[in-house]
Amino acid sequence: MAKLNVNGQTREFEADPDTPLLWVLREQLDLTGTKYGCGIAKCGSCTVHIDGIPTRSCQRPVNSISAKEKIVTIEGLSKNGSHPVQKAWAKLDVPQCGYCQSGMIMATVALLKAKPNPSDADIDAAITNICRCGTYNRIRAAIKVVAAGGKTKTAGLAIQHADGSTT
Ligand code: FES
Ligand code: FES
Repeated sequence: MAKLNVNGQTREFEADPDTPLLWVLREQLDLTGTKYGCGIAKCGSCTVHIDGIPTRSCQRPVNSISAKEKIVTIEGLSKNGSHPVQKAWAKLDVPQCGYCQSGMIMATVALLKAKPNPSDADIDAAITNICRCGTYNRIRAAIKVVAAGGKTKTAGLAIQHADGSTT
């Protein structure tokens, strides 16, 4: 049995060592919020965080991730959609079909933790995910809603893990 730290919990799984993380998350750990789009690291629908770094899980073999590295999926952002980025997404009705949106949100959370008040150029550079429904303008607007959230915005973006730690 191999182990991964996912959303603050140690999870065991059995898979070939070169299996992409995406498929372990979805098929072994039942975390289906992370989506398969292209499978070639282009679309970003499979984005999760590994130690806070946005990562395209379709191209990351599980044997390249240690059990000490903290993986966060969309399910780990909050229990009830209360993360500031999720609230901004709901406020501006960002999703259309929704398929790309968990990846968009994970990429956005990482961007805002690195740059709490990103410029348009920062957003363009960081959010390279693809949305076939064309929600890009609303995504940009939602990012600016979070960025304008005042002095609590940085602390509010931290992800609380089940073990009490944050990333
Ligand atoms: S499915 Fe991973 S980037 Fe498209
Ligand atoms: S909301 Fe449909 S693909 Fe982005």
